[in-house]
Amino acid sequence: MTTEAVIDAIGISKSYQRGKPVLNDVSISLRRGEMVALIGASGSGKSTLIRSLAGLIPIDATRDGRDAGSISVLGHSIQRGGRINCSRTLRARIGVIFQQFNLVPRLSLLTNVCFGLLGRLPTTRGTLGRFSDDDKRVAMQALSRVGIAEHALRRASDLSGGQQQRAAIARSLVQGAELLIADEPIASLDPMSSRRVMDLMADMNRDDGLTVLVSLHQVEYAMKYCPRTIALKDGKVAYDGPSSALTPAFLNSIYGAESEELFLPTFGDAAEPSHGSHWSDPQGGMNGNMNGNGHWSDPPAAVMPAASTLAMTRPHMKSGRLLA
Ligand SMILES: Nc1ncnc2c1ncn2[C@@H]1O[C@H](COP(=O)(O)OP(=O)(O)O)[C@@H](O)[C@H]1O
Ligand SMILES: [Mg+2]
Repeated sequence: MTTEAVIDAIGISKSYQRGKPVLNDVSISLRRGEMVALIGASGSGKSTLIRSLAGLIPIDATRDGRDAGSISVLGHSIQRGGRINCSRTLRARIGVIFQQFNLVPRLSLLTNVCFGLLGRLPTTRGTLGRFSDDDKRVAMQALSRVGIAEHALRRASDLSGGQQQRAAIARSLVQGAELLIADEPIASLDPMSSRRVMDLMADMNRDDGLTVLVSLHQVEYAMKYCPRTIALKDGKVAYDGPSSALTPAFLNSIYGAESEELFLPTFGDAAEPSHGSHWSDPQGGMNGNMNGNGHWSDPPAAVMPAASTLAMTRPHMKSGRLLA
């Protein structure tokens, strides 16, 4: 892994209404090859941050009368001073995945995935929906990669949420995305489909070197799949560090009662056979157990890292940053 920054957001703020920032002086940096979770209670600003990073909404031009922040993605300034500057080529290198899949419902999965080629094709051919056999072959390979090739000719709307989300990921693949930014991609999926989608993103991260930033409502998935988590609270970065620190007690110290929202309501149900009711941190940093309410019982204090003494999970991360 190189140390090249794939996302570099410095001191960014975003207000939908004057004087009421929804993001307030947020700085985050992701290096190539990282898979990072973005967590936070509803309304904490996750979607706003993701849309800002993807160059879909402009950040504020000024903060407290001073020049406001900037966002660079893949080495290009994507926005600064409230102005978005994202070329078609740069946009193709950023895959954006939404909770609601964003496929064209009445078109086939194959056509939907072919749309991922638009950033690479001459405009006329793509907009007319005239994809060549070669284009379709590329799309079929991607559908095969995400395990739904047999459904290629079915309308997107006829497929399950999990299958649609996998098609959206296939579209990012053919797009040639180097960075995948996903906004609660598993929020409307059942546990089995959620795992498939997370496994897929983890595979792409590991095998294709894709950098992944994924917002998640449930901290269990952050811990299982992402070595690093950024936690937002009221539009500020409250924590940035190893996911292994995200014990209930630690989250409670950040979010108070709101932390309840971040845990799966039930755990160890029939659809989650491989996890059972015991959760173990992939880095071996800690273990915890679910109690009958689906909440954690705290691991012994000895395995619960203090935020200031968190172990490194990535060479460049000296320690977790506890900021609120
Ligand atoms: N388009 C919008 N116009 C006005 N307020 C918005 C808009 N989008 C989000 N907000 C507000 O910004 C805050 C953060 O929202 P959001 O980024 O969607 O958070 P999250 O994704 O963490 O739930 C919330 O208070 C929300 O009501
Ligand atoms: Mg959201």
